[in-house]
Amino acid sequence: MTDDNLIRAADWLRLAERVCVLTGAGVSAESGVPTFRASDGLWEGHRIEDVASPEGFERDPGLVWNFYNARRANVKTVKPNPGHYALAKLEERWGDRFTLVTQNVDGLHRAAGSKNILEIHGSLHRTRCLCCAKVEDRGLEPLGEAPECPHCHGQLRPDIVWFGEALPNDIWEPALVAAHECDVLLVVGTSAVVHPAASLIPVAKGRKQPAAKVVEINLTPTEASRHADVGLYGPSGQVLPKLVERLG
Ligand code: APR
Repeated sequence: MTDDNLIRAADWLRLAERVCVLTGAGVSAESGVPTFRASDGLWEGHRIEDVASPEGFERDPGLVWNFYNARRANVKTVKPNPGHYALAKLEERWGDRFTLVTQNVDGLHRAAGSKNILEIHGSLHRTRCLCCAKVEDRGLEPLGEAPECPHCHGQLRPDIVWFGEALPNDIWEPALVAAHECDVLLVVGTSAVVHPAASLIPVAKGRKQPAAKVVEINLTPTEASRHADVGLYGPSGQVLPKLVERLG
């Protein structure tokens, strides 16, 4: 990451009325949460269709619950890293004109103090009942292979958006508005290959003039890079604090 690019990104942020951030698994990597598509990623050891699809849950709910209980146990042991805290710090500057859209389900942004968070892929902390539809925050305790709803004893599923499922409208709509209205979009730690999340990036570029400035923060260029006005390449746990420091 060059200082010039850091200075440019900080200058755009300084002038921004509204800021939107899109984060992916990379922002939690330095906390010890595995990403998905790295060589040692979650999708190396599991078939998405078996553990992250409604068909897979229908076929073998125990296998799916084992997968999510293992992820819950991992997240229980980790803490936010300086990148999460830096984003919470940025939010203090813009207040409700700052929106953090995350694909992550680990809850680490909230643990770091971020407030205006849109968890577009759901949360490991929550379950949803297939019978009475109640959504509950269950923390990160193990839930066994066939947890039952405490209200109606119906079958519970993780409150996670699986492949092939629509994002909850009450979360996705505000995310679209935030991407459309922002002056700067930070794209942090995502390979930007999963839609519709990744479509927020061209939405920010396609809004009324002047188009938003897109700043990519990642270890390497990604599908987002072609939309980025600048790339800050390095671990987000180091880059984000530097950006906050530069912003002053
Ligand atoms: N700092 C910054 N970026 C990092 C770091 C780090 N320390 N470590 C990894 N990365 C980057 C990788 O280079 C990669 O571009 O984070 C990105 C992680 O990409 P993925 O593993 O594909 O994760 P993500 O983009 O969040 O996946 C999106 O796909 O499987 C679904 O629902 C799941 O929400 C997930 C979605």
